[in-house]
Amino acid sequence: MPATHKIIAAASLAIAAMLAPAHAQPSFSFSAPDSDIDGDIVLMVGEGLDMTATMTAVDAATSGRLTAALEQADFTGSFGASLKLHAMSPYETIVVIGTGEEELTPRKLTDLGGHAAAHSGDDVTVLADNLDTDVEAAGAWLAKGFALRSYSFDKYKSGDDADDTEQFVTVMSAAPAAATELYTGDLQYVVEGVTFARDIGTEPGNKVYPEVVADRVRTLFSGVRNVRIDVLDAQDIRREGMGSLMGVGMGSINDPRLVVIRYNGAGTDEAPIALVGKGITFDTGGISIKPNNGMWLMKSDLSGAVAVAGSVYAAAKRQAPVNIVGLMPLAENMPGRDAIRPGDVLTTMGGKTIEIISTDAEGRLVLADAVQYAQEEFNPRLLLNIATLTGSAARAVGDDYAVVITRDLETSLDMMEIGERAGEDVWPLPLHPSHFDQIKSDIADIKNTGGSPGASIGAAVVGTFIDEDQPWVHLDIAGVDWLNSDVATAPKGHAGWGVRFMDQLIREESE
Ligand code: BES
Ligand code: MN
Ligand code: ZN
Repeated sequence: MPATHKIIAAASLAIAAMLAPAHAQPSFSFSAPDSDIDGDIVLMVGEGLDMTATMTAVDAATSGRLTAALEQADFTGSFGASLKLHAMSPYETIVVIGTGEEELTPRKLTDLGGHAAAHSGDDVTVLADNLDTDVEAAGAWLAKGFALRSYSFDKYKSGDDADDTEQFVTVMSAAPAAATELYTGDLQYVVEGVTFARDIGTEPGNKVYPEVVADRVRTLFSGVRNVRIDVLDAQDIRREGMGSLMGVGMGSINDPRLVVIRYNGAGTDEAPIALVGKGITFDTGGISIKPNNGMWLMKSDLSGAVAVAGSVYAAAKRQAPVNIVGLMPLAENMPGRDAIRPGDVLTTMGGKTIEIISTDAEGRLVLADAVQYAQEEFNPRLLLNIATLTGSAARAVGDDYAVVITRDLETSLDMMEIGERAGEDVWPLPLHPSHFDQIKSDIADIKNTGGSPGASIGAAVVGTFIDEDQPWVHLDIAGVDWLNSDVATAPKGHAGWGVRFMDQLIREESE
């Protein structure tokens, strides 16, 4: 990078550091149920409006106006249904949330917390001592969902659009001490990891490019114990022979990086879990340039990489007894002067060559070198890669699932269960020998695209760089990383998808 650009980049970094995030996480306190409350309250109500002690007390305080209002609204308490009631003195407002008829799992509790947040902007008391659940410290999961749903990104709004007043949330639950411990010592860090992923995923391409992401990762992890961060710059990437990652980065004035996050929470001789995330800070398509329509969304083409950082962060903050290495191959896919062309051949760090058919199939190129590096350097017991890889994956499974591809159905089924518990669902697509046949090149070892289905072809390209006996999970999150409308645990926009999935995987792998 020319010196003048370095100065400008350094200055913009300094400015970015000064702009603290305008959004604050809500502040939670957990306490035992107490009938002496007023202000805004949230009340959880099961299917059939079972009159629990809490509900009876609130109804009595309102002289029966609560039950009358529920009846008038035909409110049955089905899961996630909500009703906001005003003029319910001694309360300011009562938000009633239905909890359905099934027993509440951590996932469902998290969703309920999200629904509660969706209807409460001010300080609020959540009455949650009456829930049908076996979950210890249920209040902590409610808080997690509440915090996740409360996300906003106001950094670039000037004037008084930005809301930076802190919100105080009191969760009245059955085991307040346990809830406090679980939230402040654990779940809060998952929320922070998701928040990091959403923040960077929302940042525009002109503000956040590979060097800046690397810097933000360093800041995120500063002071976190047992973590070591290494950042390979363009020179290091060349020296390592990563021609594929380098090739993608070459069309941009913003050089590529490879961020390596090592968290050592178990013995030094224990093999780590490797998490590798695609980090394209903006995907124009390169010389195979994308159409204009919706291209702005390609600012979030680093969703995989930031989810990796977020999940390693959560594990490290709670000092999970496991070793993890997170890899973030970062590049900007631009059609600049030095950009790779269709027809070019790139040599990866392991020596295998790739013929470029489309420069827009760049995610698999940066992953090729990164997964190779992960195996050579760290010999992981499990390697997971996560990427906004193909429109094909999004079309195949829609908004509700990320695609999981593995070499054996058993592993994919395990991942479905992990996703189910995590609150981030995955659905399998195949990987067949024909998908490898379809990427044979006439002049190189493989080509980077061709044939169908696209999601499986993308996985086959990455799989070419994964040892046959390496336990391996491929996640294609192109359909889930960005939300066009609100869901229980997230407002529309960047979802931070993958932090919760990988967090759950790490928990189950370290049990
Ligand atoms: N980043 C895109 C995939 C994508 C598309 C993510 C839509 C999120 C929303 C990826 O780099 C890409 O361009 N994929 C191509 C592959 C094709 C050229 C083989 C695609 O899916 O069209
Ligand atoms: Mn692309
Ligand atoms: Zn891309």
